[in-house]
Amino acid sequence: MATAVKLSGITKTFGNLKANDNVSLSIASASIHALVGENGAGKSTLSNIIYGLLHPDSGMMEVDGKAVKFKSARQAIEAGVGMVHQHFMLAPTLTVTENIILGKEESRFSLPTRRIGKEIGRLATQHGLDVDPGALVSTLSVGEQQRVEILKLLYRRARILILDEPTAVLSPPETARLFATLRSLAAEGRTILVITHKLDEVLAISDTVSVMRKGALVGTVPTASTGKEELARMMVGRDVLLRTANPPQATSKTVLSIDRLSYRTPQGVEKLSGLTLRVRAGEIYGIAGVEGNGQSELLSLLWGTFERDGTTGGSITIDGRQTLGLSPAEVAALGVSMIPEDRHKSAVIAEYGIEQNLILGRHREKAFHRGIGFNRQALRENAAAMIERYDVRGAAETNPPIASLSGGNQQKIVVAREMERPLLKLLVLAQPTRGVDIGAIEQIHRRIIEARKSGLAILLISSELEELVALSTRIGCLYKGAIRHEFSEEEVRQGREAESGFEQEIGMHIT
Ligand SMILES: Nc1ncnc2c1ncn2[C@@H]1O[C@H](COP(=O)(O)OP(=O)(O)O)[C@@H](O)[C@H]1O
Ligand SMILES: [Mg+2]
Repeated sequence: MATAVKLSGITKTFGNLKANDNVSLSIASASIHALVGENGAGKSTLSNIIYGLLHPDSGMMEVDGKAVKFKSARQAIEAGVGMVHQHFMLAPTLTVTENIILGKEESRFSLPTRRIGKEIGRLATQHGLDVDPGALVSTLSVGEQQRVEILKLLYRRARILILDEPTAVLSPPETARLFATLRSLAAEGRTILVITHKLDEVLAISDTVSVMRKGALVGTVPTASTGKEELARMMVGRDVLLRTANPPQATSKTVLSIDRLSYRTPQGVEKLSGLTLRVRAGEIYGIAGVEGNGQSELLSLLWGTFERDGTTGGSITIDGRQTLGLSPAEVAALGVSMIPEDRHKSAVIAEYGIEQNLILGRHREKAFHRGIGFNRQALRENAAAMIERYDVRGAAETNPPIASLSGGNQQKIVVAREMERPLLKLLVLAQPTRGVDIGAIEQIHRRIIEARKSGLAILLISSELEELVALSTRIGCLYKGAIRHEFSEEEVRQGREAESGFEQEIGMHIT
């Protein structure tokens, strides 16, 4: 089989850090090759090298059997290599067609835009990339924007396509659609390098998979002869329990009751329409759903941070008490803890130390005080205990600013703080492992199950179906502001044991 890209001994350092350490790799023509690894493993660096954006310190590269040394992305494009970055690079105020021809031609004004628009339309239909060529990019969904990025590469006659974490922003149906496009491109002879950290996706889409860890290439294996356990072990460097043991448990009284909850924004947009659910002590109620179906509004109504000019209906009861309309402090005082969707915005203060971040919102607790000030010793001991219990890594010095930790370790701090609140009854978790490496996901999952065992009621909102299936006692499918279908305890247990197929079944109720 012909080789599209061949890398030999590629090394790239940033200061003292070896982002790529003697990486050798061959990518077969007309194949889909997956590149996996934890955050910071060096995947983006390697793809930027192939695309000419970064220059290796040493090593050699061949494209289609010819030695190349790209000085810029332009040279890579001329050699038939194209890349879609993790963050799209489209001009929002221009149309699809203008974006696609932008950069390729010198001036977009002198071009027969209409004819080019037609050509783009043809490429789009051929590969399931339909998007209106005349639409402004700012009006497109993320999925559509990604299609524009891919069209742009095809229009430039790219034969080798690199996609960096293309599914991170997509809903399950959009991901399925992207995969169909990638298969059609490979069947036509194009070569695809797809970077991801989701092992299910690797198994679903690739012919071959390469694993990186700490800058080095750990190995390359045919996808058909590997599995999630082996890939996870290669990524993390030790055995990873992909599914934490989740034994059934008797549940007791209802802690959270939500009845026919509705919400309309001040602008009159209906975000929740009759949402009803119950969460009992000792159970994890999972909410499945594509983002934007009411998750954020549900969280803000639960926590009391919603826009008060909006219109609410129905009720929220925690431990028998009506809470709709209470302030966040009043809700917290009832024994409620929340891990928000976006920790950077609302759960950590970047420049504060770990010790301070661990008591955010808990600063009134007596244990942290002595006299009128904080008890430094208590803060320090609390941090040491949490770092140990939640396996927080990267805190080399005493009390470093939280921003100096990796995203996954920051998330462990937030999880530790919220789960260790005294007198907790209800825990609301939104995307608790977003951006977290699989090794650390294992630990967070274990803590969540322990919290359930200790009798907490847990509401889990996640866009990762796998996570929901692994953790939940029951699962509600949220679509357009209401729970449209609920899987019982027995159904979820059977789905979890079946190991495959259940995610698709859930997927049908959320789109
Ligand atoms: N421009 C840069 N300057 C300094 N360090 C960088 C730069 N780009 C990446 N790194 C570091 O190199 C390592 C590999 O990063 P990256 O290739 O982005 O990993 P991945 O894509 O696998 O998450 C990380 O430790 C990252 O912090
Ligand atoms: Mg990356």
